[in-house]
Amino acid sequence: MKKFILLFVAVALIIIICIQFFRPNLKNPPVTQDFQAPEDVKAILVRSCYDCHSNQTNLRWFDQVQPVFWQVAAHVRDGRKVLNFSNWDKLAPADQKAKLWEAVNQIEQSAMPIKSYEMVHTSAKVSAQDLAVLKQYLNGMVHSMPNDTAKINARDQQLKAMPEALKTKVTESLNGITYIPDYKNWQVISTSDRFDNGTTRVIYGNDIAVKAVKEHHINPWPNGTIFAKAAWDKLEDKDGNVTTGAFKQVEYMIKDAQKYKATKGWGFARFKTPKLVPYGKTAMFTTECINCHKPMKNNDFVFTFPIKN
Ligand code: HEC
Ligand code: HEC
Repeated sequence: MKKFILLFVAVALIIIICIQFFRPNLKNPPVTQDFQAPEDVKAILVRSCYDCHSNQTNLRWFDQVQPVFWQVAAHVRDGRKVLNFSNWDKLAPADQKAKLWEAVNQIEQSAMPIKSYEMVHTSAKVSAQDLAVLKQYLNGMVHSMPNDTAKINARDQQLKAMPEALKTKVTESLNGITYIPDYKNWQVISTSDRFDNGTTRVIYGNDIAVKAVKEHHINPWPNGTIFAKAAWDKLEDKDGNVTTGAFKQVEYMIKDAQKYKATKGWGFARFKTPKLVPYGKTAMFTTECINCHKPMKNNDFVFTFPIKN
């Protein structure tokens, strides 16, 4: 028996040594334009995110021991694909803001940095104070007052055009999902502000969703669950009172584990402006949706945590 264990350990050691020679090809490509921000903001992102979301990856020795290195290299490759602070010039200004907003959101939902990474790189953890610094920075990027005149005009024009808009026949989304007008009567599950582009959003759930919340049955959400998320411009007067401006869009997530297997059990659709123009150029637009929802995979791909009762 003892001999057998010794042999086993020896073989395992040899395998571990051998796999050290099969190394993923991980390089730092050139930086075209590094993300610029005040020092404190930048420092947080560099410390917590740059290993996977920049071309300035700084791996420690323990990251480079196999088989861990394979996993690390895959994270870096996938991370750079979706967000790369070293090619910041590749994004239009509005997309840069949107990415930052998304980044702060991922941190807030504890989806980023990736947990397995954070466990061994404890300094990458984003503290509550760091998060506040990032949020304040983003908040400062939204112009409030001057923009509001334009927003008020947009709302008024939209109201004027509404009777016409309501007459247009709504076409279905490219993946076959139709607009569901009834969401306005559903229960509000949550609201959120998007500080990068100044919109305010309301998230509604249908009866099945509401029942699932009551029964604490939300991971996974049951088939038939539907969420609707509607967005308006956010209007704020000088006393800080907030009202909704022009209607922007409504989005749906419909749970059917079988039918929407390709997108993790959720059917996605988005209808824009009061004319409810379906979003996307091909039916593949759903990849964009699920990719951004993916960090929430431990929460059935849903961001919203309903208010517990
Ligand atoms: C260990 C590597 C790693 C670290 C560190 C890391 N990420 Fe990520 N991140 C990824 C990977 C991999 C993805 C791809 C999403 C997926 O499918 O899981 C991703 C996805 C994202 C996305 C979604 C992008 C999109 O458009 O789909 C955002 C935003 C993001 N990360 C922000 C951050 C922020 C902010 C930090 C630092 C606080 C951070 N990440 C730290 C690996 C990492
Ligand atoms: C840039 C990242 C991103 C993309 C792309 C994205 N979402 Fe979301 N989605 C979010 C975030 C973050 C929330 C959480 C609510 C909030 O803060 O607005 C959310 C929430 C939702 C909700 C409410 C349920 C929930 O998960 O909280 C629906 C419905 C939804 N999204 C539909 C869609 C559809 C349809 C698409 C594609 C057309 C899409 N989303 C693309 C980030 C994204």
